[in-house]
Amino acid sequence: MHDILPAASGEARPGYAELARSLAALLDGEPDLISCAANTAALLYFGLDDLNWAGFYLLDPRSGDLLVGPFQGRPACVRIALGHGVCGTAAAERRTLVVPDVHAFPGHIACDAASNSELVVPVIDGERLIGVLDLDSARHARFDDSDARGVEALVAVFVAAIRR
Ligand code: SME
Repeated sequence: MHDILPAASGEARPGYAELARSLAALLDGEPDLISCAANTAALLYFGLDDLNWAGFYLLDPRSGDLLVGPFQGRPACVRIALGHGVCGTAAAERRTLVVPDVHAFPGHIACDAASNSELVVPVIDGERLIGVLDLDSARHARFDDSDARGVEALVAVFVAAIRR
C-alpha cells in the first residue's frame, strides 16, 4: 500500500510538490470519481497541518446544487446551492477562495463550529464543473496564496486522474 502519510510526530509534513506526487501515485489507474475523491480527501486531511475538515462537494446535475461527497472530518451539511456559502460561491464563480476568517464571509455555512478559516478550490474539467474541494481549519488565516496554488495543483492531478 502507499506508504505516504501521515508523517510520524515530529517529522516534517510533506510539501505540496510531494503531496502531488503521492496523489498521482495513489490515483494511478483508477478513474472512478468517488474512489479518487475519497483517497484525495484522506491524503489531504492527514497530509496537511491543522485541518478539521477536508473533502468534496460535487455538483448534482439534477438539482444544480452541490452535494457533500467523500470527506474526512465531522459530518457536514449535505446540500449547498450554487452561489451560497464559501463552497457555492467558489463553484458559481469558478475561482479559488481563501477565507482567513469564515465568520466575516457573508453567507458562510457553518458545518463545524470549530472552523475559523477555509480554502475552496473549484474542480473543473474543461468547461464542466465537477464540484469543489473544501479545506477547513480551526486556525485563523490557516491558508494563504501558496496553499491556494498548492491545492489547485492537487486538484489538477485529481482531474487528470478521473478524466482517463
Ligand atoms: N463552510 C462551507 C460549508 C461546508 S463545510 O465547511 C464542510 C461553506 O460556507 O460553503
